[in-house]
Amino acid sequence: VIGCGYFAGFHHDAWARLEKAGEVEVIAVCDRDEAKAEAAAAHYSSAVIFSDLAALIAARKPDLVDIVTPPQTHAALIGICAEAGVDVICQKPLAPSLEQARILVDRAEHAGIRLVVHENFRFQPWYREAQRLVEAGRLGRLHDVVFRMRPGDGQGPDAYLARQPYFQQMERFLIHETGIHFIDTFRMLMGEVVAVTAVLRRLNPAIKGEDSGQVILEFESGATGLLDANRLNDHVAENPRLTMGEMWLAGEGGVLRLDGDGGLHLKPHHAPEALHPYDWDNIGFGGDCVMATTRAALHAIRDGTDPANTGRAYLRNMEIVEAIYRSSEEGRRIEL
Ligand SMILES: NC(=O)c1ccc[n+]([C@@H]2O[C@H](COP(=O)([O-])OP(=O)(O)OC[C@H]3O[C@@H](n4cnc5c(N)ncnc54)[C@H](O)[C@@H]3O)[C@@H](O)[C@H]2O)c1
Repeated sequence: VIGCGYFAGFHHDAWARLEKAGEVEVIAVCDRDEAKAEAAAAHYSSAVIFSDLAALIAARKPDLVDIVTPPQTHAALIGICAEAGVDVICQKPLAPSLEQARILVDRAEHAGIRLVVHENFRFQPWYREAQRLVEAGRLGRLHDVVFRMRPGDGQGPDAYLARQPYFQQMERFLIHETGIHFIDTFRMLMGEVVAVTAVLRRLNPAIKGEDSGQVILEFESGATGLLDANRLNDHVAENPRLTMGEMWLAGEGGVLRLDGDGGLHLKPHHAPEALHPYDWDNIGFGGDCVMATTRAALHAIRDGTDPANTGRAYLRNMEIVEAIYRSSEEGRRIEL
C-alpha cells in the first residue's frame, strides 16, 4: 500500500481486515514520510516500511500495489509498476488531466498489467441497493435522477484545511475532485451519458476552484440527471459527509429517495412512501465502501474478470468531467 496519509487510513483498515480474513498478505507499506509509514505498518502482521516504491518492488516483489497518494504522483508510480509488471489499484483522480490519464492507461495496457481505479461511491451500500431495485424492475423505466450534494464543509477561510488542505489549491475542484463520484454512480444506475449542460461557480473566495454548480446530464436511454452541488451548505443528516447529500431516483414504478443518513425510502406510484429496509454497516468511510471497492477489485484481479472501472473504462468519467467544464466555460450544451 503506497501512501499513508488521510484517506489511506480507510484503505489500511480494509486491507487489515482482508489480511485477518486470510485473503491477502500485506507485505509492505510505503510513504515518503517515515513516521506515517510506521504508523500504517502497525495495521498488519508483518508489513515492512519503505519510502520509495521502486525499492519496495525490487525488494519484496508484490503481486499487487494499492496507490493512495495525490493525483500528480500517480503517473510516475503506475509507471514503476508497469515496468515491473505489477498490477495496480489506484485512487482517483487518476491523473490531474484527461490527457495524462490517457497516457498512463496506454502505458499500463502496453505493459500488460491490470489497472483498476479505486472509485468507491458506486460501492456505497445505498447505491448498490438502488441498483438492485432498478435491476429487479421495482422502479420500472427510469425517468430521471437528482442528487443534491451538500456536505457543508466548504465555508470560510479555513475550509478543508484540517482534513484535505490541498482542496484549497485545486484549479478544478467540485467536479474534478468530488462530482466525478456522482457521475460514475449516475452511469451505473442510468446508463451512458450522451450530453451535458453545466453552470459552475466559485462561492468561497478562499479556494481556487469552483465549489458550486448545476449539471444536467442526458443519458442514452432518454432519461436525464441533475447534479445540484454546493459544498458550503449542509443537509439534514447526523453526519453530512456520510452520503454528502440526498438523491431522488424516479421511474414509471415510483420514486426511490436516499436521505442523509443512508436511509432509502420507496414511494410506489400513487401510493405512500415507506422506509425500504436493507442491510449495511455504518463503519469506515461511506458505509464501508472502501472495503467493498477493494474487495471487488482484488477478486476481479485474482479471478481474471473485469472489475468496475478499469483504467480504460474510467476514462469515460473523465471525458464527461472535461465536457462539463467546457459546457460551463462556453455557456452551451456539449454532446459527447
Ligand atoms: N472518496 C475517496 O475515494 C477519496 C477521499 C479522499 C481522498 N481520496 C484520494 O486519495 C488520494 C490521497 O489523498 P489523501 O487525502 O490521503 O492525501 P494526503 O496528502 O493526506 O496523503 C498522501 C500521502 O502520500 C504520500 N506520498 C506522496 N507522494 C508519495 C510518493 N511518491 N511515494 C510515497 N508516498 C508518497 C504523502 O507523504 C502523504 O502521506 C488522492 O488521490 C485523493 O484524491 C479519495
